[in-house]
Amino acid sequence: MHCSKANEIMEREKFSSKFGALMVIIGSAVGLGNIWRFPYMVGANGGAAFILLYILFAVIICLPVMLAEISIGRKSRTNAFGGMYRLSGEKKFWKGASLLYLVTPCLITFFYCVIGGMTIEFFFRSFGLNIPSGPWWTLLWTLLFLGCNAMIIMGGVKDGIERSSKIMMPMLFVIIVLMALRSITLPSSAEATTGALDGVKFLFRPDFSKITAQTAIAALGQAFFSLSLGSGVLMTYGSYVERHYNVRTISWQIVLSDMGFAIIAGIAVIPAVFALKADPAAVLSDNMDSALVFEILPEVFPMMPLGGVLQPLFFFALFLAALTSSISQFEVPVAAVMNDGKVSRKKASLILLAVFTVGCTICSLVPKTISIFDAIASNWLLPIGGVLAVIFIGWFYSKEEFRSELSSGDLYPTGNRLFGFVLLLIKYIAPLGVLAIFLSKIFLTR
Ligand code: TRP
Repeated sequence: MHCSKANEIMEREKFSSKFGALMVIIGSAVGLGNIWRFPYMVGANGGAAFILLYILFAVIICLPVMLAEISIGRKSRTNAFGGMYRLSGEKKFWKGASLLYLVTPCLITFFYCVIGGMTIEFFFRSFGLNIPSGPWWTLLWTLLFLGCNAMIIMGGVKDGIERSSKIMMPMLFVIIVLMALRSITLPSSAEATTGALDGVKFLFRPDFSKITAQTAIAALGQAFFSLSLGSGVLMTYGSYVERHYNVRTISWQIVLSDMGFAIIAGIAVIPAVFALKADPAAVLSDNMDSALVFEILPEVFPMMPLGGVLQPLFFFALFLAALTSSISQFEVPVAAVMNDGKVSRKKASLILLAVFTVGCTICSLVPKTISIFDAIASNWLLPIGGVLAVIFIGWFYSKEEFRSELSSGDLYPTGNRLFGFVLLLIKYIAPLGVLAIFLSKIFLTR
């Protein structure tokens, strides 16, 4: 038993370099959450005040959760379903609780792939092709997107996930920056009474009266979703990270890059709406149903100079962003089935492909399920999954082991002095913060 475990630990697939690991993990974090979800969430929840809440939660709640999740993965060197179980000395409770890390990534994948499919559809549409639409077409695009995922996942950690992310992420970055530059320099259209700069103000000038319990839970959900927390992704990916790569360093790099991408994506979308639409406030607050990127932008692009080039480029970037994120959700249950079910990567991938096909079909044919699954998963299951990880590390795991995990590969031992503070965040602030937001949502809203 012990011996086979040792073998498993030795043979576990790994990322080949720090750069590769970083691209994969940022690839998971930066996705539709930044480019599709963030701009409309900001638009619907009052702009800058929402962004500030999001940043606050990212730092005091999400960062501790991230440290806990990556440490659990790397220390246990197993998948999300088995990580806490192994570290707890095989206590059944933690295995039961970890079932959440099988359910949540599946639920997210079901709707995420539908939006992922739309990125392919809109890419082709942006060449002016006359593509029919309807539920069955949506299903077709969704399954195409799901197929791209399966191909990468079957390629394995190094040759599939890492290699593709190293190409896709830098491309995505360049395209999004170009889009943002275009958006803030747009001249106002004839119908618009506002300009691009008003959009920038909307993004950066907070109006605190807009903060409600609803906004707070939306900001928390957005932070968890965007950082891929609470669903086992960072445990699974953490288990592929080498020990010489410091966990604190990775975590900061991810949080800052993810915020950077979200804000640049906000700049790419929102000022354009302000420069080109007659009533931007109405456009933004009406788009709770996420139509911003797929309904408004295709109207906006033809109005802008160079729009014909930027539109396909934008949807291609969105496709890349979606793909590097969806593979991370795909990988979580695949790794679990592979390790715990003792089957090959190929077989595990095919089993999950079958499960996802069913779920994605439902989401494609019954579009209402998209926002329902999204709300259940993002606003409730992700924060619960994240709290589970911090509670495990804070209350049920050895402080010394955790400290050594955090300082492994540490170039600046000063970080160790912060350990007491990190522990405070992990034990109290993160779980109580999430609890407070849940309670305020339950009691303060109708
Ligand atoms: N973070 C990704 C995004 O912003 C989505 C994502 C990937 C995700 N893996 C996840 C969300 C796990 C929640 C949980 O688009």
